[in-house]
Amino acid sequence: MVNIAVLGYGTVGSGVVELLEKNKETIKKNAGKEINVKYILDIKDFNGDKYQDKIIKDFEKIIRDNEISIVAEVIGGATVAYDYTKRLLLSGISVVTSNKELVATKGAELLKIAKENKVKYLFEASVGGGIPIIHPLLQCLEANNIKEIIGIMNGTTNYILTKMITENISFETALKQAQELGYAESNPDADIKGYDTCRKICILSALAYEEDISPDNIEVKGIENLTLKDVKKAEEKGYVVKLIGYSRKSDSGNIEIMVSPCAIKKDNPLANVNDVYNAILVKGDMVGNVIFYGKGAGKFPTASAVCSDIIECINTSEGREINLREDRIFIAKPEFEILEGTNLPIVGEEND
Ligand code: HSE
Repeated sequence: MVNIAVLGYGTVGSGVVELLEKNKETIKKNAGKEINVKYILDIKDFNGDKYQDKIIKDFEKIIRDNEISIVAEVIGGATVAYDYTKRLLLSGISVVTSNKELVATKGAELLKIAKENKVKYLFEASVGGGIPIIHPLLQCLEANNIKEIIGIMNGTTNYILTKMITENISFETALKQAQELGYAESNPDADIKGYDTCRKICILSALAYEEDISPDNIEVKGIENLTLKDVKKAEEKGYVVKLIGYSRKSDSGNIEIMVSPCAIKKDNPLANVNDVYNAILVKGDMVGNVIFYGKGAGKFPTASAVCSDIIECINTSEGREINLREDRIFIAKPEFEILEGTNLPIVGEEND
């Protein structure tokens, strides 16, 4: 039996605990061992909760317990979560996470600490919720040079845009629904203003181009200033508006990254990605375009990715070592044609 702890008992944390229970037999078969959630750490009280006996407030109890070998960090943010993750890795405990803010800002450092301490730091759930994207990028596509990544990577904004455009629901109502469904960040500004997408495109770009890419260097536009006029104009011209995280590596080695609402031709597969769904198109020099599609947020899709990382920690497979060049590099903004009568860059054209 393997004992684990879950840090954070919100949407994702409760999803992890419930998933481990619901799919106990499958997980036991695939991990070769039973997984026992020994502790759940949260600052709130959960009176009457099914797992109340496991909920604690003292992190020290977890780090001092020799039986704990894996921790799922689903607190979010880059303050307490950073401190806990660093200490756990230094203590020889593997950490899996859905925390894109922490991975995007401190991932290179945490991966280095994990390597030095012969443990794992895995973050499949940090991009695309339940969509397998990080493992495929690092393993299945490793014979390629990655040239370009185009993604709808934020479930909340995609849900809001879909509802506003196709169902005529107001921005506020659509946002409220996304919050109720557990898609939005605790401060939904991170979704709406594009910071969440920025963190995710930085994580993917860092892995694809093997550079430590800071979200601070990227110009970010969210959907907060998107006008209905722009959306209608795009529609008339045969385009759909999506919040896109974009990056490419030019032949001269420059990395260009952009986060912005963009116009996408209606016949592009990304134009038909709706609601909470995300899709990430990766262009490899040998494979061409491949698309990863699925639910990008929500309790069980995200827990699915966290739990697969827990199983990977238990299994012996080493996986590919990730080495990111530590000097933070200059990032440029890519140039795109702007859709006439709007401020929207046109992305996803074959000749981009
Ligand atoms: N708030 C995020 C989203 C959650 O809406 O995509 C998943 O990362």
